[in-house]
Amino acid sequence: MTRIILIGYMGAGKTTLGRALADEFGLTFIDLDHFIEERFHKSIRDIFAEQGESEFRRIEQRMLHEVAEFEDVVISTGGGTPCFFDNIDYMNQMGTTVYLNVPVERLFIRLSIARKQRPLIKDKNDAELHNFIEEQLALREPYYKKAHHTFTADKLEDKTQISASVETFRRQFDL
Ligand code: S3P
Repeated sequence: MTRIILIGYMGAGKTTLGRALADEFGLTFIDLDHFIEERFHKSIRDIFAEQGESEFRRIEQRMLHEVAEFEDVVISTGGGTPCFFDNIDYMNQMGTTVYLNVPVERLFIRLSIARKQRPLIKDKNDAELHNFIEEQLALREPYYKKAHHTFTADKLEDKTQISASVETFRRQFDL
């Protein structure tokens, strides 16, 4: 039974790489944010706006416990998932956790064009976004580094790079 759980900052490529890995290895892909949105018939952005972050974190933990029971899956989590409650220890028990490590500059490039749907960064200008990534990543890394493995996911910008990253992942983790 295979259960790979991808963790890492917003823009680290958890969804992009997760979907590609699942396709390549015949596993089911589950995106935790998407799972929450389907279950609640609401966007993450609206859940944050209407219920606040603490309620979102409680929902996120509950839904994590559902998806982490599924078998033969690649699960991509939200950037904050490992940093609340005992979520990282729980994920480490339930599956093989992989931290997608990406340098701040690359995260900034990715997030500067994809900030609108992310409630934590949607109202930030470029300078604020850059500072926020740097500061929050420093706070979150101790949680991310508790993952079983680390994978450098700085090259996911087009189909060729994604395929190459899947191949590197396969070799690194002997899939
Ligand atoms: C969050 C990351 C988001 C989503 C929510 C909060 C975070 O997921 O769960 O907006 O705290 O970093 P992505 O990492 O997929 O953007």
